[in-house]
Amino acid sequence: MEMNIALLPGDGIGPEVIAQAVKVVKAVGKKFGHTINFEEAAVGAAAIDLTGNPYPDATHEVCLRADAVLFGAIGDPKYDNDPKAKVRPEQGLLEMRKKLGLFANIRPTFTFPSLIHKSPLKLERVEGVDFVFFRELTGGIYFGEPRGRNEQGTKAFDTNVYTKEEITRLARMGFEAAQKRRKLLTCVDKANVLATSRLWRETVQELAPEYPDVKVEYEFVDAVAMRLIQWPKAYDVLITENLFGDILTDEASVISGSMGLMPSASVGIENKLFEPIHGSYPQAAGKDIANPLATVLSAAMMFEYAFDMKAEAQAISDVVNKSLSEGIVTEDIAEGAKAYKTSEVGDWLAENV
Ligand code: IPM
Ligand code: MN
Repeated sequence: MEMNIALLPGDGIGPEVIAQAVKVVKAVGKKFGHTINFEEAAVGAAAIDLTGNPYPDATHEVCLRADAVLFGAIGDPKYDNDPKAKVRPEQGLLEMRKKLGLFANIRPTFTFPSLIHKSPLKLERVEGVDFVFFRELTGGIYFGEPRGRNEQGTKAFDTNVYTKEEITRLARMGFEAAQKRRKLLTCVDKANVLATSRLWRETVQELAPEYPDVKVEYEFVDAVAMRLIQWPKAYDVLITENLFGDILTDEASVISGSMGLMPSASVGIENKLFEPIHGSYPQAAGKDIANPLATVLSAAMMFEYAFDMKAEAQAISDVVNKSLSEGIVTEDIAEGAKAYKTSEVGDWLAENV
């Protein structure tokens, strides 16, 4: 098959980890007989430097042309402590999500036996944890209007808005994922306080009879924040709004002890984007020390979700597991043993895939 992949390396360690994923994707293409074309484009602070815009039209065109987008990270410390900056790298990310219609952010949490001792949780709580968040990504308080300040600048407001349609399309994805997994769906909301959350709950209740094999639970977001730490094994598929999902998926990302390894996908009807969850990690940029495995595993998610190629995805997970068990890893997980460079890990994975 011929596949066209847009590469958006972005900021910080983005370019380094994307370069390793490209090596692995090429090796998979060779092994399985696919022709894979790459087209690179700028995003984030890197794009502001080049064009003044964190998500230039030219980049959008590249994404629209592609079958899937492989994205590194966005963010640069020079903007973080400057709340008055007119353009920010993160605006590029939000615009990209909106323009590409990426309404579902899929973030799995699973464990790697060789890294589980790095979990902040007790072993018995975390062993075998395997759940996935479906976070709504193009609505809610991130985009709701009105937003801004009063004339004096002494009062600020954001608006949380959801339509039934936005909730329905995200919830259906969650139901369908649950059907393929352990058939448990948790709707995370704040229906005891928020009108938007009551619409979420009502909508999910209406959909539930269409998925009789899925058990649905409704939990408040504050309780989920607690239970994710107390008993994360209780969860299978969780669906939630944009802001709750932002917060809870960061919490979820550290549970397994393998945050540097967690991939994610952001999908819509037309477009699909895959990215590591770890962000731009500016302290490590340019040093060839960043862990590329989350990006490589994001490429595995790409084969599975964008191209329905399970064997290709499996080949990547297998080689990642092999690198972990053979200790071909970067310094963040080497623990006193020899640490390999980012580029060396990428080369090894590509050779062994
Ligand atoms: C994420 C990030 C973004 C978000 C930021 C960088 C805008 O935290 O992908 O979770 O809040 O969605
Ligand atoms: Mn976040």
